[in-house]
Amino acid sequence: MTDADLVRSVLAGVPLPLLTVGPDERIGLMNPPAANLFGQSAEGRHFLTVLRQPSIIDAITDARSRAAPSEARYHRKDHSGETVYRVMCSPLGQGGAQGVIASFEDVTSIETAGQMRRDFVANVSHELRTPLTAIIGFIDTLRGPAREDPVARDRFLGIMEGEAQRMNRLVHDLLSLSQVETEERIRPTELQDLAALCASVCHSLRPLAEEGGVALTIVPPDPPLPRVLGDADQLRQVFTNLVENAIKYGRDGGRVELRFATLPRDPILGGPAVSVTVQDFGAGIDSIHFHRLTERFYRVDGHRAKQMGGTGLGLAIVKHIMNRHRGRLKIDSRLGQGSSFTAIFPQPAPA
Ligand SMILES: Nc1ncnc2c1ncn2[C@@H]1O[C@H](COP(=O)(O)OP(=O)(O)OP(=O)(O)O)[C@@H](O)[C@H]1O
Ligand SMILES: [Mg+2]
Repeated sequence: MTDADLVRSVLAGVPLPLLTVGPDERIGLMNPPAANLFGQSAEGRHFLTVLRQPSIIDAITDARSRAAPSEARYHRKDHSGETVYRVMCSPLGQGGAQGVIASFEDVTSIETAGQMRRDFVANVSHELRTPLTAIIGFIDTLRGPAREDPVARDRFLGIMEGEAQRMNRLVHDLLSLSQVETEERIRPTELQDLAALCASVCHSLRPLAEEGGVALTIVPPDPPLPRVLGDADQLRQVFTNLVENAIKYGRDGGRVELRFATLPRDPILGGPAVSVTVQDFGAGIDSIHFHRLTERFYRVDGHRAKQMGGTGLGLAIVKHIMNRHRGRLKIDSRLGQGSSFTAIFPQPAPA
C-alpha cells in the first residue's frame, strides 16, 4: 500500500465529509461523504470554483497563510431545506506546505435548536411584559390620581386582576407544555373511552358556551367507539382546548358540535383509528395559517385572540399530546363557514 492509498483509506474511515486543498489550490483528496456533498468531479478542481462561499474561502486561505487552524460556516440549500456545516480547516505539513484539510460537521439541528430557544425566550418575555407593564402603570395611578377615588380604584383593581390572571394562565400553560414535552416519549398505557371523556369536558365548558350564546352538542357514536390508549388528564386538555377555541373563535356560528368516527384505516397513521371532530360554524381560518396554528404563541388575529385571554399555547400543547399518543391533529376550515379540528388516535392492536 502506498502512502497515498493509506491516507485515502484513513479518510474513507471518517464519517464526516473531509477534503484536502493542495499547495496548487486544487481539491486533492475527498472521502466518500465529501464526494457525496460536492460531487466526485470536484476532485482536481480549483477550490474557489467548488466551495464558492467567502467565509470558507477565507478560512482555507487563512489556515494556509497563518499555518494555524481556522473555522467557518458553510451553507447548503437543497429541496429539503438548508443545511449548515461547521467547517474546520487545518494546515497540512510543516507550516501548511502541503495545503489544508477541511472537515464539514452538520450543525443544522444545533443551530435550529439554539434559534428556537432564543425565539422562545423572546416570546415569553414579550408575553409577560405586556401585562406587567399594565399592572405597574395602574399601581402608579392608584398611588397618585386615583388615590381618593373609590370607583376608579375598583375599576383599576379589576383590570389588574385580569392582567395578573393572564400571567398566571401563561405560566400554567408553559408548565403544562414542558410537562407534556418531557413525557412525549412515554406511551400512555390506559384504555380510555373518548365519548365519555368528551361528554365530561363539554359538561365543564357548558357555562362558557352559554355565556357566549353557543349551543354545544355531542353526536353520540353509533356503534360505540373502540377505546384508545391514552392519558385521561392530557386527553381532557386536548378536548378542552379544542372546544374552548370553537366556542371562543367560532361564537358567531352559534353552535359547536362534537362527532366521533371509527376509521378502518387512517392513511397517515397507516392503520385503524378513532377520531373526534370538534366543529364550529364561525368565522373560519384562512388555510395559509393552518401549518402555523400549532406553533407556540401563534395567533391568527393576534389582537383579538389576546383580548379573549388567549396565550397562543393551546394548540401547541394539543399537538404535543397528540404526538405522545401517536395520533395526529387534522385542521379543516373555510372562511365564513367555520372550522373543524379532528383528533385522530390509533386503535390499539387487539390483545
Ligand atoms: N375554532 C377556531 N376558529 C377560528 N380560529 C381559531 C380556532 N381555533 C384556534 N383558532 C386560532 O388559532 C390561534 C391559536 O389557538 P391556541 O388554542 O393555540 O391559542 P389561544 O386560544 O389563543 O390561547 P390558549 O388556548 O392558550 O388560551 C387562536 O389564537 C385563534 O386565532
Ligand atoms: Mg386556545
